[in-house]
Amino acid sequence: MVKVITYGTYDVLHEGHIRLLERAKALGDYLIVGVTSDDFDRSRGKINVKQPLTERIENVRKTGLADEIIIEEYEGQKIDDIQQYNVSIFTVGSDWEGYFDYLKEYCTVVYLPRTTGISSSEIRSENQQLNIGLLGGFEETILNKYYQESTLVNGITVTTLLNSSKNTEAWLTEYEAFLNDCDAVYILSHPARHYQEIKYALEKGKHVLCESPLALNSQETKELFALAERKQLILMEAIKTAYSNAYNRLILLVKTGKIGKVVSIDATCTSLQNFNNKNLESSWNSICAWGPTAMLPIFQLLNTSYEKQIYSLFENEKIKYDNFTKINFLFQNATASIKVGRGVKSEGELVISGTKGYVYVPAPWWKTDYFELRFEDPNENRRYFYPLEGEGIRLQLLAFSKAIKDGRKSPYIQTEVSERISEVIEDFYSGKDLKIISSYN
Ligand code: CTP
Repeated sequence: MVKVITYGTYDVLHEGHIRLLERAKALGDYLIVGVTSDDFDRSRGKINVKQPLTERIENVRKTGLADEIIIEEYEGQKIDDIQQYNVSIFTVGSDWEGYFDYLKEYCTVVYLPRTTGISSSEIRSENQQLNIGLLGGFEETILNKYYQESTLVNGITVTTLLNSSKNTEAWLTEYEAFLNDCDAVYILSHPARHYQEIKYALEKGKHVLCESPLALNSQETKELFALAERKQLILMEAIKTAYSNAYNRLILLVKTGKIGKVVSIDATCTSLQNFNNKNLESSWNSICAWGPTAMLPIFQLLNTSYEKQIYSLFENEKIKYDNFTKINFLFQNATASIKVGRGVKSEGELVISGTKGYVYVPAPWWKTDYFELRFEDPNENRRYFYPLEGEGIRLQLLAFSKAIKDGRKSPYIQTEVSERISEVIEDFYSGKDLKIISSYN
């Protein structure tokens, strides 16, 4: 019996897939179809598959062409499958020409001509094309990075790039024209501008993804969420870490009690900034640049009522530019601390200590693809690896477009967490619970 094997995602099953399966089947007597798992697709950069694995399998099954369906879960599995199932022919579409020649050592490799004019990507794009306008203010390189990442997310087109720095009438007219061209806006401007820019965009009926903090006080953050809800629009906070696979899995593991009760969380985020006093005012200070990321696990894992003490070292106290800030939090049954700095360097790790064990995430923890659960008995220690695509920017854009499409707020950052984050930032600016570390000059 000649066994044939072929692999694919088979998302929104289309004519091209069916024709491929028919010809694959005709190559032998028995056809095995490997359908890629969601995790495997993610790990190879296919992040916007529309249908879950179960539906994709069901669609392949319904074609009646597969004698057996298996799931493809890991790199290198094809060799394993070919040997295990005693396969004679491996086949895929000609878009993969040459790519699988390494399998010739194990069986015959056939590339079948791809059906022209149709693909899952195109079908997905037709259904949900979203025009996103990028509102800058950052350095050009960062803006370009975001632009590049956006091209990797299906169904998204970045229409306009507007530099947000002025505050004139003319700028407002420009902003309005810019908003007219988009369905949604991604705001990357200076935090002091966020509230006005978000409010204006929401009032114009546009969905908003905005770098954190959304506003410099909790009242304004609440007001923006209420406005978004009233207008039935999505307002999402862009803390990249919140959308990464490793971070999400570690939060779930902690919530399921793997390390017992959480007693302490310590998060450090620093990145040295090259600035001169001239552009200090337009630069992100330490608390805005890093505070939201560092506070994220704290407010996601501990209850929201807390006391705190803020310690800051200022480069310029008048404009509240902190080189370094440390905050100690006291919750009812736990304690936490963050250290953030753009003018001070430290080990950027995250440690979550519990009554049974602890989570250790090495530097830079905010863009990690790896973490460990550690216990008294080292034999129980576990390491977890998850791919991180595009520093989380891509996943963040994907979550944003999905939330818009579903008409439902994405679950990654809870509204209360966003409110607590701006509450702390508000106290930093007002000087509440703030002690100043004397300057070293
Ligand atoms: N295929 C084909 N003709 C098409 C589309 C796909 O012959 N028009 C083949 C591919 O070459 C592959 C199999 O169908 O052997 C499964 O492809 P898959 O990657 O699932 O489909 P695509 O439509 O190419 O998906 P995407 O656009 O997400 O890359």
